[in-house]
Amino acid sequence: MRTNESFRPGLEDVVVAETRLSLVDGEGGRLVVRGHAIESLAERSFEEMCGLLWDGALPGPARSEEIRSGLAAGRAAAFRELARTSAVLGSSDAMESLRAGLAAMRTEDEPLERTGYRLAGAIAVLLAAWHRRRLGGAPVAPDAKRGHADDLLRMLGGAPAPAALVRGLDTYLVTVAEHGMNASTFTARVVASTRSDAISALVAALGSLKGPLHGGAPGPVLDMLDAIGREENAAAWLAGELAAGRRIMGLGHRVYRVRDPRAHVLELALAELERAGVASRYLSLARAVERAAIEALDAHRPDRKLRTNVEFYTAVLLDVLGVPRALFTPVFAAARAAGWLAHVAEERAVDRLIRPRQRYLGPLPEPEDAGGALRAAG
Ligand code: COA
Repeated sequence: MRTNESFRPGLEDVVVAETRLSLVDGEGGRLVVRGHAIESLAERSFEEMCGLLWDGALPGPARSEEIRSGLAAGRAAAFRELARTSAVLGSSDAMESLRAGLAAMRTEDEPLERTGYRLAGAIAVLLAAWHRRRLGGAPVAPDAKRGHADDLLRMLGGAPAPAALVRGLDTYLVTVAEHGMNASTFTARVVASTRSDAISALVAALGSLKGPLHGGAPGPVLDMLDAIGREENAAAWLAGELAAGRRIMGLGHRVYRVRDPRAHVLELALAELERAGVASRYLSLARAVERAAIEALDAHRPDRKLRTNVEFYTAVLLDVLGVPRALFTPVFAAARAAGWLAHVAEERAVDRLIRPRQRYLGPLPEPEDAGGALRAAG
């Protein structure tokens, strides 16, 4: 009997795919997406990022416009579908509503890119409609003339958002659209490897993203900043959390041993917004808490470099963009959908069922009494 002797809990450092999509360099603190350092993509739009991920190269103006109008059509289709699926918005948990809304989508015989537009459109429409309903109002219809980030903010807020906020959301969506073999991307690839459809792959990925160790962290980051309240409380609050055996949200990463490069990009976007007159109520506190948390974690785990991850400044940025904290993870999904789709396409090209093995630790049946069985047979 073959056994797998090389089991690593959490599949840490196990290579499960070959990809042309992104490089996550944990020691060097680098994220490269299709040959571009993430810092160099920060000024791009979500549409351009979709083009980069799906086509392999940054799109020119005509292709960008094609993607923009594809996403707009996806939002329009999702808004029409709301008449059929609006019951899914009833959950008090936005991720639950989003999961139900995507699951209700119909699988069509269509090119993968069109499914991508429908999925990205549905995520934007569903999360905004969930919010409007919580406020007691009707969902805001999408506007086909707008870019995806622009329209998402408009459908959320009920009025066109200032250009600086649209720029901020585009930077966020671009920054988190793709990030190697994270748990939700792996989930999407496992589903795609069975030749299942892309909607099923994304529903499964969404369930994976929801967990607090993955995409569920930014809401709790803001809760932490609220609980700390003032810079001078940070050290004592953090020490209390660590002493109680709890994790500090927005810090630590499976791959990065240095500061997550995306934290830097998002912090710069916050500084840019501040220059444009949109100051965050959390930014200076967040910077102080980050310093105190690193000091506390260095003392707590001197053997392990636990540094700021993307979720820390995600929380601060999404808050200043007017996104309520209940929607932080759904907005993350809005971005990551582009990356998930690209991985589904890659996995389809590989076309090899992902089916690893396990090491059995349970008991075996008693050896059969062969003599007795033969006697009974006569
Ligand atoms: N606060 C306190 N302790 C932490 C920590 C944190 N943020 N992150 C890791 N640790 C501890 C772990 O508990 C572990 O302790 P143990 O050996 O006693 O079990 C040790 O440090 C080593 O953890 P590591 O192997 O580096 O992390 P991981 O790969 O298992 O987990 C995360 C990575 C992201 C899940 C983890 O750092 C975490 O839970 N962070 C907080 C949640 C978060 O911000 N998630 C968003 C990720 S982008």
